[in-house]
Amino acid sequence: MSHILLIIGGGIAAYKSLELIRQLSKAGHKVTPVMTESAGQFVTPLSVSALAGKKVHEALFDLTSEAEMGHIRLSRVADLVVVAPATADMMAKMAQGRASDLASTLLLATDTPVLIAPAMNVRMWDHPATRRNLATLKADGIAVVGPDEGEMACGEYGPGRMSEPAAILAAIEAALLPADRLLSGRHVLVTSGPTHEPIDPVRYIANRSSGAQGAAIATALLRLGARVTFVTGPASVPPPEGAEIVAVETAAEMLAAVEAALPADAAIFAAAVADWRVTQASGRKIKKQAGALPGLSLAENPDILARVAGMAVGRPDLVVGFAAETDDVVAHATAKRARKGCDWIVANDVSPGTGIMGGTENAVTLITEEGAENWPRMAKRAVAERLAGRVAEVLAAKNGTASGRRV
Ligand code: C5P
Repeated sequence: MSHILLIIGGGIAAYKSLELIRQLSKAGHKVTPVMTESAGQFVTPLSVSALAGKKVHEALFDLTSEAEMGHIRLSRVADLVVVAPATADMMAKMAQGRASDLASTLLLATDTPVLIAPAMNVRMWDHPATRRNLATLKADGIAVVGPDEGEMACGEYGPGRMSEPAAILAAIEAALLPADRLLSGRHVLVTSGPTHEPIDPVRYIANRSSGAQGAAIATALLRLGARVTFVTGPASVPPPEGAEIVAVETAAEMLAAVEAALPADAAIFAAAVADWRVTQASGRKIKKQAGALPGLSLAENPDILARVAGMAVGRPDLVVGFAAETDDVVAHATAKRARKGCDWIVANDVSPGTGIMGGTENAVTLITEEGAENWPRMAKRAVAERLAGRVAEVLAAKNGTASGRRV
C-alpha cells in the first residue's frame, strides 16, 4: 500500500478527483487530501474527506494540524505527491517556487516525487507562459500525465482536459514502481559510436565519436529494467554489460541491424553515423603512385534516424535523435527535430568554449513537441540517467505499446 498526498486544484476537473480518490482507495492506496481554496468552489471538503476516509487539509495556518504534524512533515510522509487537477495558476506557482498557500508550500517543501495532471482551457495550455512553466517543471523532474484532447467544459476543443482517473491511476502506479522495474518488459534500441566507411581493406572514413554517450544511456536504461539492443560502430569505450550487442562497421550495416532489432518501444540514436561512404570501395589496397591521387567518389549514407522516425508501421513509440551544435542550439535542433521526424532531440552545445567536447560533463537542451528544456550542466552519466527516466515516463503513459507490453 502506498501513501498518496493528493492536492486538488481549483478547476472544473476537480470533480474527477473524487473518482480518482475512489479508484486509489480501491487499489489499496492511502490518500491524504489537500484542497486549494478555489478547489472548494468545485467540490466540497466533505465529499473529499468522505471518499478519502481522512480529514482534508486546507489552510496553511491550521493550528491544530500544525501542532499535529506541521505542513513540512505532511509533504514528506507520502510516497508520491499528486496534483490533480493542476491548474495553470498552480503550475505557474510551482515553476516559480512560490509558497503562498498550503498546497504550494507543500510542493516547495517536499522531497517526495511529484506527478501533476494538468487541466485548463486550451488557450491557457497553449500560452507561451504555460509552455515555459511546463518545461521548467519537467526539467525539475516533475512527472506529468495528460492533458487529453477533447471538448472542454468551456465549449472549446483541444488539449487541456484532465486525464481520466484510470489513466492518472496508471501513471501513479508507474511512478511508484521501484526504479529497477520501471522499464521491465520494454525493449529499447540504442545506436552508438562512429561508423567506419571503407576506402579499401585497410583505410576508412571515420569520426572521433567515442561511443561514451550511447553506452551511458544504454547502462541507465538497463538499470531501469529495459531489454536493450545496442547497435554499435567501432567505439573506443566498452559496450554496456547486459545489453544485446550488435557490432557493425558501416552505416549500411547499422541500418540493417536496426531494422532487424525492431520492434522496439523506444529507439535512441546516439551514433555519430558517417555522412558519406565511398561508392566503390576497393577490394584490394589502393597502391600509392607517385603523382597520382586516387579519385574517391562519395555517396550519402542512409539517415537511419529519419528512416525509423518515418516508419508508417511499427514505429517505436518514442524516437530520439541527437544534435551537436556550435551556435543557435535551440533553433538548429528544433529544425532538426522537424526534418528528421523524431519525437525528441537531445542537443548539446559543443562550441570550443564550453569544454564539453571530450569532457566529463554535459549541458543539454531537450527539444520536444512542447519546446526546449535546458538541463543544468551535469555529469554525462547523470544526463543519461535523466534521459532514461524520461523515456520510462513516456512509455509508462502508453498503455499497450508497439510490442504490446505494459509496465
Ligand atoms: O544530421 P545529423 O548527423 O546532425 O543528425 C544527428 C542524429 O541523426 C543523431 O541522432 C544520429 O545518430 C542520427 N543519424 C542517423 N543516420 C545518419 C545520420 C545521422 O541515424 N546517417
